[in-house]
Amino acid sequence: MKGKILNILRDEKNVVSGEILSDQLGISRVSIWKHIKKLREIGYPIEATSKGYCLISAPDVLYPWEFGDRESKIHYFDAVDSTMDVARELARSNCPHFTVVIAGRQTKGRGRLNRTWLSSEGGLYFTMILRPRIPPALSSRVNFAASMILARTLRKMFEIDAMVKWPNDILIDGRKVSGLLSEMEAETDMVRFINVGVGVNVNNDPTVGEPMAISLKKILGRKIPRKALLSEFLNSFESRLNNGALENVVSEWKEYAETLNRHVRIVTDREISEGLAVDVDKDGALILKLADGSFKKIIHGDCFHEDKR
Ligand code: BTN
Repeated sequence: MKGKILNILRDEKNVVSGEILSDQLGISRVSIWKHIKKLREIGYPIEATSKGYCLISAPDVLYPWEFGDRESKIHYFDAVDSTMDVARELARSNCPHFTVVIAGRQTKGRGRLNRTWLSSEGGLYFTMILRPRIPPALSSRVNFAASMILARTLRKMFEIDAMVKWPNDILIDGRKVSGLLSEMEAETDMVRFINVGVGVNVNNDPTVGEPMAISLKKILGRKIPRKALLSEFLNSFESRLNNGALENVVSEWKEYAETLNRHVRIVTDREISEGLAVDVDKDGALILKLADGSFKKIIHGDCFHEDKR
């Protein structure tokens, strides 16, 4: 109902009387007033006069009803420990494909390799629960599709040179603007779910904990609408996934790759490898040329660009 009231107020732009709202929506004027009161409490600047209601401006909020047809599959929280934890519970209780968990902030945001992902207000933090019909061996293609589509979305919306760093970071001018984390559960031959968590530094200041990170706001010199960015990304990513075209994802990802032809150090909890990053294969493994001329295939790890550009 809140979404419907907002749509009418947005379309009308002028004052809409309680009577018109009540007639159009088939609920009492008292119910309309209760919804308006709630909407005002959660941040919508709605002016109430003797003539009716008027939406003064559209706040950049991420409530489910802001996402049109997606509403029933969006779960929004002002604050959670981590959207990954909420998403895992939902996935295990059989929520539908492309359910999305969004948080205004996270108190225990998680990064890759057990790092903390600082998640203060103003950033974009969400996890998508995906049920692609693919074997577990192909799951990394989903992550590469997500980072490639996010880089493309940032390029298209803001005309910036968003690059991808192996495996799934987004960099602008060498500084991290976004990171992706994924978790999967699978049968032997079929994925049950892949949860892809995305953190984007939008209007928050990430440098407090990560001096080399940067926000879109800092790069572009203005506040960036998170809702528009998330909607655009979800639409592009969903249509890519549903068209099943994951075969060429990594070669498209490579168009924006910052990691190739660079001297890199890859750190895992077991070992450190150094060499020249010569390629990423079609399933996302990084191919390193080592100092002795041999090649090494790296499936996962944390990547550091050793040569400065
Ligand atoms: C990384 O670069 O290390 C990955 C960061 C992933 C952060 C996102 S924010 C939404 C989701 N919830 C989390 O706790 N982490 C991911």
